[in-house]
Amino acid sequence: MNAVVSPAAQDSAPAWIKNQKLINWVAEIAALTKPARIYWCAGSEAEYDRLCAEMVASGTLRRLDAQKRPNSYLALSDPSDVARVEDRTFICSETAEQAGPTNNWMAPEEMRGTLKPLFEGAMRGRTLYVVPFSMGPLGSPIAHIGVELSDSPYVAINMRLMTRMGRAVCEVLGSNGTFVPCVHTVGKPLLAGEKDVAWPCNALKYIVHFPETREIWSFGSGYGGNALLGKKCFALRIASNMGRDEGWLAEHMLILGVESPGGQKHYVAAAFPSACGKTNFAMLIPPKGFEGWKVTTIGDDIAWIKPGADGRLRAINPEAGYFGVAPGTNEQTNFNCMASLNANTIFTNVALTDDGDVWWEGKTKEPPAHLIDWQGQDWTPEIGRTTGRKAAHPNARFTVAATQNPVLDPNWDDPAGVPISAFIFGGRRSTTVPLVTEARSWTEGVYMAATMGSETTAAAAGKEGVVRRDPFAMLPFCGYNMADYFGHWLALGKRVEQSGAHLPGIFCVNWFRADENGKFVWPGFGENMRVLKWVLDRIGKKTGGEENLFGVTPRYEDLSWEGSNFDQQAFERITSIDDAAWAKELELHSELFTKLAYHLPSELEAVREGLKARLAA
Ligand code: GTP
Ligand code: SPV
Ligand code: MN
Repeated sequence: MNAVVSPAAQDSAPAWIKNQKLINWVAEIAALTKPARIYWCAGSEAEYDRLCAEMVASGTLRRLDAQKRPNSYLALSDPSDVARVEDRTFICSETAEQAGPTNNWMAPEEMRGTLKPLFEGAMRGRTLYVVPFSMGPLGSPIAHIGVELSDSPYVAINMRLMTRMGRAVCEVLGSNGTFVPCVHTVGKPLLAGEKDVAWPCNALKYIVHFPETREIWSFGSGYGGNALLGKKCFALRIASNMGRDEGWLAEHMLILGVESPGGQKHYVAAAFPSACGKTNFAMLIPPKGFEGWKVTTIGDDIAWIKPGADGRLRAINPEAGYFGVAPGTNEQTNFNCMASLNANTIFTNVALTDDGDVWWEGKTKEPPAHLIDWQGQDWTPEIGRTTGRKAAHPNARFTVAATQNPVLDPNWDDPAGVPISAFIFGGRRSTTVPLVTEARSWTEGVYMAATMGSETTAAAAGKEGVVRRDPFAMLPFCGYNMADYFGHWLALGKRVEQSGAHLPGIFCVNWFRADENGKFVWPGFGENMRVLKWVLDRIGKKTGGEENLFGVTPRYEDLSWEGSNFDQQAFERITSIDDAAWAKELELHSELFTKLAYHLPSELEAVREGLKARLAA
């Protein structure tokens, strides 16, 4: 049995907790937040089932139909708590320069002063869940342990699917191991006798990182990256700081394996901004004409990448599950994902069908005749048409363990990681940026990634569809000065090159060029395999391309078109370079570099000057 103890009895942590620092810290946070109970999560299935049953009873979860969607649940959030809140996310390093101009900064002492009264008594009437987790395979030299203290049982069950969580982690932690402390509250204390709401949260939100002390404090939200602190807060914002200090990379990247019919296997890591196609690319099914090719998943969102003993870059997926975008996912776009969601899945903010299953925009061509929408209201296609209301929230998500993925790579859990052959960076751009470009050098590749732009999506609160610079797809996730981060990438490339190990090629893609009616020209999804093959062929020096303004792009005949009717004319539409648009694009690069002038590596400025000269010539 796991101990459910009163805060006063903090010495009654379960016997398998051997780490006094952890016990003391839990007591300290309990004294501050004053929960009614403390519960140490062991991570067992029975515990998961019990927490889910409690949340069904309290109205936070609804159990889906046992035949249609076994062991699966639906949560509907508060309508105000549906996505990451970037303007409420803070990097509280010692100085503002260390956080850099792309992050919100507040002096650590000032922030601590702000947070203290907010966390004071914040868990009153609730249970404090102690959630020990490992980012990365248990005991891997690349992995790191965190402990999240949260008053949300929804967080506890999601963390069980998303990470290696519970007792086994504490065994690795032992009595002397270190962990990243993560404190989370929904910010809604319960007064005596007060009835709880289905999705408690607070209008005021703070998602706070202290890079020097490697701490995370999150207040007011129960949703996704705001609350599941192992993900963006730890595995990207804190880990990017660890990586800078220790010579490795924490990236917003999927990792996939790709095997040719001849049995040659490569691993590729790709960074696209939120809701721009990582999960889809990571589970891609090769199209007609690519019989014998196999794509397998290592990870769909985050990669930790370190030079191995041989100097080659090796990557692990620090996560153990997927918190993926539901809308747009269906059997045609992502068959493997749909198969993963058949059972044992938590859905958040999708719609409920009358027969106890889930639905979201794009799941089927025709919506069901009646639904309960993500706000718990009646929804019909007619209501949708007349009001514009969506049945599922555009940032509705599923949480599912990686082991449910039918194309999970056999090496996904390898503590040593997998060797990376290529990096791909991609934004969502309806104009300007061609289908695929290869950088001619590491420096040029870093420049491409650094200056990447993308149209904003529903994954973050704020206006959708606005082009913003999103360097390395890390704008909301880099835990230190972005210019220093560019420098770190340049330095790491030099280190790999000097070691004599294979340096991955760098490519830039765009699946989202649109026609005059706003329709995507490139079919995308499985068809992206054609681009992936060109990438591998370039690395193997097996195919051609031609130099354009800023790199090498394929001519029509350089891609394999077997099984496709995508013609040369359509290809020109998504690969053409419009000089006027690029002149404007370079202005935006300039603007970014001006903003990042402090510590901006001079090599990048030199690439920009070169591009400008080429465009003028
Ligand atoms: P995060 O989990 O927010 O980091 O997102 P992600 O990068 O994993 O994005 P995901 O794969 O979930 O895709 C987001 C949306 O883009 C979904 O609605 C997809 O259907 C759509 N999408 C993915 N790949 C493609 C593509 O190749 N072409 C087009 N047109 N849409 C795509
Ligand atoms: C993203 O927004 O990039 C996500 C979802 O992967 S969240 O976990 O909310 O950050
Ligand atoms: Mn993401």
